[in-house]
Amino acid sequence: MRPFAIATSLLTSGLLISSSQAHWIPVFNKPAVVPARPSSQQQPMDAPGIQLPPSSSGDAPPSAPPPGSDVILSDVLSLTRQINIFAGFTRDISSVSTRLDTTALNTTVLAPVNSAISDLPRKPWEDPKDYAELGTSAYEGQAGEDRASRNLRRFTEAHVVPTSPWEEGEKVKSMGGGELWWENRQGKAILQPGNVEVDRVVSRVANGEVWMLKGVLNYAS
Ligand SMILES: *[C@@H]1O[C@H](CO)[C@@H](O)[C@H](O)[C@H]1NC(C)=O
Repeated sequence: MRPFAIATSLLTSGLLISSSQAHWIPVFNKPAVVPARPSSQQQPMDAPGIQLPPSSSGDAPPSAPPPGSDVILSDVLSLTRQINIFAGFTRDISSVSTRLDTTALNTTVLAPVNSAISDLPRKPWEDPKDYAELGTSAYEGQAGEDRASRNLRRFTEAHVVPTSPWEEGEKVKSMGGGELWWENRQGKAILQPGNVEVDRVVSRVANGEVWMLKGVLNYAS
């Protein structure tokens, strides 16, 4: 991947005007392509093999893909308002957007709910080590944008599992390289390491699933 392309894409999306002025909203301005789907095919959905809490949001209920459907992850990720910060990251990180666009490769997307990302003590593209080494200008200029892109890529890839269906207890490496598995604890899916609870499965499509997380996974290098 060309770092310049990432930085350019981040700039284009308005994500990285400057680290101090960075704002979430411009990331979401790209219009989502909404595939038409008859309402008769909508049905409630559980996590793999377990009961998850029902949706308490105003979002449309998730839909199982009709047999032979060609709807894929990149079509549906932007449709759930509660995870649209993470959806924006997946569009900006080309390794991930390419993966989600690939029909032949299944993926489980572990999308932290918006509040889990906005409540982080720092932005996902900020790294305390960068500030320690470079001070407050760590993310200024071309080198700074490249640094921020790398950090955001690390965060995003840590939340993408190149496997679907993903069975309970099955240890897999995320795109970022960290090993993950999940446990069924009293009817809740809990991701490990870190005890991060899956709120619900928001989409199940031809090339994988989108799970909404109540927190973020560890993405430290
Ligand atoms: C990919 O996902 C589909 C839909 O869940 C499933 O039928 C298929 O077996 C999966 N393929 C692989 C290689 O896991």
